[in-house]
Amino acid sequence: MSNLGVMPRSFLPGPLRGTIGVPGDKSVSHRALILGAAAPQPLQIRNLNPGRDVRATMEALIALGARIEGASSALSVHAARLREPMGTLDCMNSGSTARMMLGVCAGADVRADFDGDESLRRRPMEPVAAQLRAFGAKIETTDGKLPLRIDGTPRVETRNFILLTPSAQVKSAVLLAALFARTPVEITADRGSRDHTERMLKYLGADITWNGSTIALRDGITNANPISVCGDFSAAAFFIVAATVASDSELTIESVGVNPTRTGLLDALLQMGAQIELRNAREVSGEPVADIYVRHAPLRAVTVGPDVALRAIDEIPVLAVAAAFAQGETTITGVRELRTKESDRVAAIERLLNAVGIAVETAPNGLTISGAQPKGNGTVVATHDDHRIAMAAATLAAGAGTLQIDSDASIDVSFPTFLETLGSVQRA
Ligand code: S3P
Repeated sequence: MSNLGVMPRSFLPGPLRGTIGVPGDKSVSHRALILGAAAPQPLQIRNLNPGRDVRATMEALIALGARIEGASSALSVHAARLREPMGTLDCMNSGSTARMMLGVCAGADVRADFDGDESLRRRPMEPVAAQLRAFGAKIETTDGKLPLRIDGTPRVETRNFILLTPSAQVKSAVLLAALFARTPVEITADRGSRDHTERMLKYLGADITWNGSTIALRDGITNANPISVCGDFSAAAFFIVAATVASDSELTIESVGVNPTRTGLLDALLQMGAQIELRNAREVSGEPVADIYVRHAPLRAVTVGPDVALRAIDEIPVLAVAAAFAQGETTITGVRELRTKESDRVAAIERLLNAVGIAVETAPNGLTISGAQPKGNGTVVATHDDHRIAMAAATLAAGAGTLQIDSDASIDVSFPTFLETLGSVQRA
């Protein structure tokens, strides 16, 4: 059980020393559950992410008729003919659930109503809806957002897609629509967003090729090879940066997914002078995995462009924390999307770094951080219920000094054991 709740929480300075693991990858977990619902035999999944977001996907699949047995540590998904759910599908805080399950319903020819919490209701659904309408689905949104109704399609209208948004969720929605409709599809203009869906389809025997810009899915899943979900790089990221910025740190994070479409943060940190090594590199269920070894190091500023930013999209808050400690001005561009994540993350980063005396200049699609010596003095920072901002605050405090956040309840969506993991390696 986690001890998270709607209460202010203090984070303290101090080095991180020892060895930890992180929860199963959230992105991979959503996909494993969904692909299980299209597999020819029951699909065994180990180490599923235990957070609320993945639970939203699990509950949506069950409402549509799939059977799921077991717990996050080890479970099996039994496919069934998907059918109209009894009530509204509640995607809670999870954009991945909403967008990818829309793809499932489009392809499986299912009618469903979708909704989510207050934060998800503010996030754009029109980009995914537009592409699925081209596929043949009927979708009525509320001003481009949730709540919405989808009527899946028995007749596929388009099999060639140009990806109009640089989003792995939208790309995956189209692939899932094709998978559940048992139709081939070709997608062009991908800009190299995370390729977990493509890798897992291949691992499960689908006929699929991709090259970072064009994806061709020719035929669906043919086996139910068990999936062992790798550790979540986006969860490890907080610890990688905390160990980099807190003097005397030396930390190993075991069994972390290091898919290159996710590790833009490592590229940026290495350029900044961080001391990070990938050890024991291997492949697990079609995903590259390694143990990540990190030591404290002084940092210098860096310029991060759209290509690296896309591969670090969920790590921009914690990369900004690293930049606060770096000598010079760090500029990050190509992150317009960050303004429509769980919160407006550009604004949230600015507030977080201002609280420790660091100047941030923001633009519609980026930010510039003037690195110096951040100093935490116990200021309370608003997280806007955004898990990644809450954990970035803990990372900042590790190197800068005490900080408080208004609530840590949001951490539960991706990393329910975050506080325990931090407590197990942080020294006073
Ligand atoms: C995700 C893709 C990214 C990322 C999100 C998870 C995924 O979103 O920010 O946390 O699992 O495909 P976009 O596809 O909207 O960029």
